[in-house]
Formats: sequence, structure tokens, C-alpha cells
Amino acid sequence: MSKGKVLLSVSGFNPQRWHELLAARREVALRPEIAADPSIEYAVVWKQPPGILTNLPNLKAIFSIGAGVDHILADTTVPDVPIVRVVDPNLSKHMTEYVVWRVMDHHRFGQMYRAQQKRKIWREPVQRTAGDTSVGVMGLGNLGRDAARALLGLGFLVNGWSRSERTVEGVATFAGEAGLRAFLNQTDILVVLLPLTAATRGIVDYSLLKELRRRNGLGGAVLINAGRGRLQKDDDILKALEDGTLKEASLDVFEVEPLPKTSPLWTHPRCS
Ligand SMILES: NC(=O)c1ccc[n+]([C@@H]2O[C@H](COP(=O)([O-])OP(=O)(O)OC[C@H]3O[C@@H](n4cnc5c(N)ncnc54)[C@H](OP(=O)(O)O)[C@@H]3O)[C@@H](O)[C@H]2O)c1
Repeated sequence: MSKGKVLLSVSGFNPQRWHELLAARREVALRPEIAADPSIEYAVVWKQPPGILTNLPNLKAIFSIGAGVDHILADTTVPDVPIVRVVDPNLSKHMTEYVVWRVMDHHRFGQMYRAQQKRKIWREPVQRTAGDTSVGVMGLGNLGRDAARALLGLGFLVNGWSRSERTVEGVATFAGEAGLRAFLNQTDILVVLLPLTAATRGIVDYSLLKELRRRNGLGGAVLINAGRGRLQKDDDILKALEDGTLKEASLDVFEVEPLPKTSPLWTHPRCS
């Protein structure tokens, strides 16, 4: 019996490498040219066009080229088959590097030094050690746990928040809605590494940012979102930066991507 085909549907980057690897094993369809193609058994996708997976009668599983599956589930016509995502040590390391880089920059007053250098101002702030700053990681999955461990290794106080109770050595953990406020109240730098789901969409709003600890050695609360853009409300972040609820923000993702040229976040002096 011949092996079924793999549908490869990727938006936003060239899938050449994936095509080569898959084609070495199975016939690859780059588009389901024929609607309801019965020979397609698997789909490998990144931000596939809506409806493309709807009418494949023999589809057995969908593979996401990435850690998240929200781009697949954004299409409500996706059939009820197993969805597989990437859990890769390299991906975790890349994310942890990003998180550590941004946490260290905020912790060591990077933004202030860059502004001073521009204006030739010689002034040194009081430097605190990592143990004076608490970093709260929202989402204690593969990525959140790896980042939390790296931050612990640098000496930060680390809090973690997840849906269910989790134990991560050295991390003060909180769970569910009941634990959210206490988690935020003890957090100076908030790192968001949640998946985008119906329960987490828009969770990073003004009311949540208000709960962060502002009276701290950093001179205010900091947000780092490395999860998904639609976890946050861009306008609420701008408001929080303007009224002092947030001191600074590092955003890897935005509600609308690419970020519209008209967004004030492009040029906000305390957003990187
Ligand atoms: N910016 C980027 O380029 C980039 C790159 C890769 C991934 N990401 C994003 O990072 C996300 C996290 O990846 P991962 O591999 O760490 O995911 P994961 O292993 O599935 O972990 C998700 C974590 O979030 C928690 N969570 C989920 N829903 C929640 C809710 N409603 N309330 C509280 N906690 C909740 C889970 O809680 P439980 O432990 O209790 O289940 C778990 O701890 C991905 O989904 C993706 O969207 C972004």
C-alpha cells in the first residue's frame, strides 16, 4: 500500500528545508489543489490559510512548525485530529537567551544608560544585585521553566504562575485565578510565556499591570512579553507606560503583526 501524502502549508517564510526533509520520506503536496484530496494523511503547517484543512477525509494529524498551536486553532473549521507541536531544546535556549537578555537589560538600567550616553550625561545609579529583583514568569511550560531556571542561576528571585499547581525547584509557584494577584503583587519584572487560548487572550491588560510591584529597586514595574501578541492589549501597555504603572516594556510580539507603522510603540522611549 502506498504511503499517503503530506500537505505542507507555510506562510511567512520559505519552507524549502521542510520540503526537502519531508519529500525524502513521502510525497508532498504544497497546496491541496484538489479539494477533499483523500491521499493527504498528514499536514505540516505554519499559519495555514483558513479552510485548507477542512475537507481532507483521511487526515490523521496536524503538525505545527513551532511551539504554539494557536495559529492552527485560529481556523475553527480545522478537523478534530491530533495536533502535534515542536518541543525543541534549541527553541527553549533561544527563548531563554531572549528572556535573560531583556531581564538583565532592565535590571542593569540599560535604557537609562543609553539615554544618558546620547546626551553625554555622566551619572551612575545605585546598582542592585539580582537577588533584590523578583521576576515573575507567567506560564511554566517548557519555555517558562527553562527561562525560570536560567534566571534562578543568575540569582534573581523567581515566581511562576500556571493553570495547575506546578513545582519548580527554587521557584515560588502560584496557580489559577486564585493565585494570580499574589503572584503579580510579588513581581517586579513580568515575563509572559503563556500560550494563546480563549482563556489567555488579552490577559495582559491594564488591570493586570496595575497589580505588579512598582515600589522596587528598579524604580517601577517592567513587562516582557515573549509569548503571543494577542495575550496583550497594546493600548493598555501604552497607557501603563504613560502613567507610571509600567516603567519599561520589552515586547517580542504585538496584537497586530507586523506592528502598524502608526503605532506609538515603535518609538516609545521606554519600549524595546
Ligand atoms: N515569541 C515567540 O517567538 C515564541 C516562540 C515560541 C513559543 N512562543 C509561545 O510560547 C508559548 C509557551 O510555550 P511552551 O512550550 O512553554 O508551552 P507549554 O509547555 O504548553 O506551557 C504553557 C504554560 O502556560 C500555562 N497556561 C496555559 N493556559 C493557562 C491559563 N489559562 N492560566 C494560567 N496558565 C496557563 C500552562 O499551565 P499548566 O502547566 O498548568 O498546564 C503551562 O505552564 C507557546 O504557546 C507559544 O505561543 C512564542
